[in-house]
Amino acid sequence: MSTPSAPFTDPALIRGPLYGSPERLGQRTNALHRAKIIGADATETIAALAMAAHPAPARVADIGCGRGTTTVRLARQYPTAAIVAVDQSPALLAVVGDRLRAHNRHAHLVQADFHRLPDDVHDLDLAVAAFCLYHSPHPEQALTEIADRLVPGGVLIVTTKSADSYREVDAAIAASGLDPQATSRASLYQSFHTGNAATVLAAAGLVTRRRLDQQHTFRFPDAGHLADYAATNPKYQLLPETTNEPAALAAALHACTPSTPVTTTSTVTYLVTARP
Ligand SMILES: C[S@@+](CC[C@H](N)C(=O)[O-])C[C@H]1O[C@@H](n2cnc3c(N)ncnc32)[C@H](O)[C@@H]1O
Repeated sequence: MSTPSAPFTDPALIRGPLYGSPERLGQRTNALHRAKIIGADATETIAALAMAAHPAPARVADIGCGRGTTTVRLARQYPTAAIVAVDQSPALLAVVGDRLRAHNRHAHLVQADFHRLPDDVHDLDLAVAAFCLYHSPHPEQALTEIADRLVPGGVLIVTTKSADSYREVDAAIAASGLDPQATSRASLYQSFHTGNAATVLAAAGLVTRRRLDQQHTFRFPDAGHLADYAATNPKYQLLPETTNEPAALAAALHACTPSTPVTTTSTVTYLVTARP
């Protein structure tokens, strides 16, 4: 499969195969959750940081909300707050709406690009942008736009991952021979990661109040579990018959790499910032 050199910031991939439907994101999240052996739950960490930063916000937004796990958690934490859920993907926003209804909560669902937010995203006391800014080739522009929608003193919590996240999986895929170049490609998180996040936030005029860096460790016990994750990773250039087919990929990995389990790490960074 031929992929762009920076698949996580490629607009066509983001709107299509990555988030055009909920399946890939669900599979990737599920594979990583099952593999995690060390590291706090990200949604609970965001909720705790939010509560400490703002115990009673009137308007809360989840920017780049995906399947809405954080949205639902914040809606439960702040039962009287107006909730705004923003994402570019209509399919994912539909999932968020369903999940909120299941908790008897409602959100204003906004389909928008976070570089150009519409006027109905405004006067936010608290906003979260979790694991989405690395999809922007110019994250400082997205952050400037989001900061502009905060009230003065309003809080924005952002999360991202280290550029070297999951590199042991890259090594296993390269060693298997299925994609020998897997270790030489750029990080998926290259535009916004643990190493540059503070600088980018400052460039957008946001003041960092608190920072948390947590190391997460993942263990993929067998080729099947590794394939569940690897098939969702747009960085790999796999054989056509294994692309997006975890079972075929697992069989190919199993044949090539009897050396599972694979243990890998990712640093997850949380920054609590404020609009001056
Ligand atoms: C990895 S998911 C993260 C979802 C969620 N925040 C979470 O923590 O699980 C990234 C999300 O960012 C969204 N996204 C990517 N680029 C975007 C953009 N330019 N504007 C709005 N949403 C975007 C995608 O549609 C996807 O739902």
